[in-house]
Amino acid sequence: MEKDIEKILLSEEEISAKVSELGSILSEEYAGKNPLVICVLRGAAPFMTDLVRRMTIPLEMDFMAVSSYGKSTQSSGIVRIMKDLDTSVEDRHVLVVEDIIDSGLTLSYLVDNLERRNAASVKVVTLLDKPARRAVDLKPHFSGFQIPDAFVVGYGLDYAEKYRNLPYIGILKPSVYS
Ligand code: PRP
Ligand code: MN
Ligand code: MG
Repeated sequence: MEKDIEKILLSEEEISAKVSELGSILSEEYAGKNPLVICVLRGAAPFMTDLVRRMTIPLEMDFMAVSSYGKSTQSSGIVRIMKDLDTSVEDRHVLVVEDIIDSGLTLSYLVDNLERRNAASVKVVTLLDKPARRAVDLKPHFSGFQIPDAFVVGYGLDYAEKYRNLPYIGILKPSVYS
């Protein structure tokens, strides 16, 4: 195990089983709808690429990057689009893929933004949900695991851009960030 990790919260096997389960649910949900599956860069990249391979229906993929300001302090809720979609979402069934919902500010902005572009539907799938930290009323339509309020990294989640490539999700040792 990576030396900066205190404990494994979700193993590679647990993640993989959950991704398969979500893939089947989403395949039913979006059958015949050719959904536009949107990855929120960068954290959601490993989850999205695994998830689409567990979806057994035709779909399209696109990518967006956003940055939220003042997140470490009290967030203002201001989110900026750093990389926009290449695809029009008008009349499309959009599925936004996230690695984690924390305060919910990133997603509430994004969902609102996509709805304004006249998508046929906008739903959210997140691998992790940390409801304890929610600042806005936002519930994912599809969710993998609810997790406690701990500092988690791996499988896309970073601390200062590190640990995204860990195949599991672990709790970071406090000595690393304090
Ligand atoms: C993280 C995470 C979510 C967001 C959740 O992304 O990947 O996108 O924060 O936080 P929120 O619910 O409080 O908005 P981050 O902004 O760290 O960028 P990254 O994906 O590139 O790591
Ligand atoms: Mn992110
Ligand atoms: Mg991050």
